[in-house]
Amino acid sequence: MGSITTTDALFQPLRLGALALSHRVIQAPCTRMRATKESDGVFVPNALMVEYYAQRASSGGLLVTEATPISRYAAGYPGVPGIFTPSQIAGWKAVTDAVHAKGGLMVCQLWHVGRATVPSFLGGRQALAASDIPISGDAMDGTTYASSPPRPMTITEIQDTVQDYAAAAQRAREAGFDGVEIHAANGYLLDQFLHDNVNTRTDEYGGSVANRARIVIETIKAVSGAIGADHVGIRLSPYNFFQDTRDSDPQAHWVEICRLLAALPESVRPVYAHMIEPRFDEVLDEAAKMQSLPTGSVKPTLDIFRAPLKAGGIALIAAGNFGPENSRPKLDEDKADAIAFGRWFIANPDLPRRLMEGVSLAKYDRTTFYGADPAEKGYTDYSFYE
Ligand code: PHB
Repeated sequence: MGSITTTDALFQPLRLGALALSHRVIQAPCTRMRATKESDGVFVPNALMVEYYAQRASSGGLLVTEATPISRYAAGYPGVPGIFTPSQIAGWKAVTDAVHAKGGLMVCQLWHVGRATVPSFLGGRQALAASDIPISGDAMDGTTYASSPPRPMTITEIQDTVQDYAAAAQRAREAGFDGVEIHAANGYLLDQFLHDNVNTRTDEYGGSVANRARIVIETIKAVSGAIGADHVGIRLSPYNFFQDTRDSDPQAHWVEICRLLAALPESVRPVYAHMIEPRFDEVLDEAAKMQSLPTGSVKPTLDIFRAPLKAGGIALIAAGNFGPENSRPKLDEDKADAIAFGRWFIANPDLPRRLMEGVSLAKYDRTTFYGADPAEKGYTDYSFYE
């Protein structure tokens, strides 16, 4: 693929800090719940996961791991592989070796679920979050989140957690990852601080946008300090509803967050922001999501974040309901630098090649997204185009 000269916007090279991509078809992070249980709360990458990621690797193509817990108590549910034990580092090393053998690149998405978990997944501990406001509805163990509400993190716990991100980033590099993506999206811990319907704190981690973003900025600085900013990206989802986040003014607030990122000294500034289109929602379909977004003075779009990020030299990766038709215009119109595909990459291990050659895409089976019996089903058994 690398030797073909093309004007196709998806197949132009792109440099993201230390990462030299030869095309712009990125695998989005997707929870798949196929890791092997080692002990309570400890799940380890296995041979099946090596096969899955290796299938999706391509020369100069970037893969982002599924969301990966940074510590034993950062995890939300079963089957998700962490990056906090020697066995997990070894398991991930087999994955990154296989991806590198195909010329691919891979970053580890660093995850803390905050309030999106319950004591049965935390060895009996209470979940920690920005505030004590629980998610509505049921957790994966069948109890309601409200029956065991989260506890607001103390300042010390915030500082310790920031260090946990940095230590996890270090371990990710030991495991052979080319970099890390700090998960500050989709209603998980860092996003619980960013969103003003969850963060009701009155200390220096709540109130103004700068205060709500403080833990995120501190995490970026700590992670960049540990592994170098040219190996660091971040994921943000201003328009997210998942896990009960609903911000009062996503446009204004995330423009300010993007400005804060851009204003960081280059030595700690992340190389990319990976953002999710307003139309995408974990639960609602596109029409329902667009209808339920607040209609403020500015249209809900990622476009408003492009300029403030660019001012700091931060690349934009766009995700959320992209396919063959709408991905190229996004790049041609310079509204993003690369496109992340989740569901299409699940069903099409050779997605970059299919997009390049214009061949049809296989449909994904939603029922096997979050585990299956056998585990291969809907995971490593999707076909390559002949
Ligand atoms: C999920 O497991 O459903 C999940 C995990 C991480 C995300 C979004 C969804 O960012």
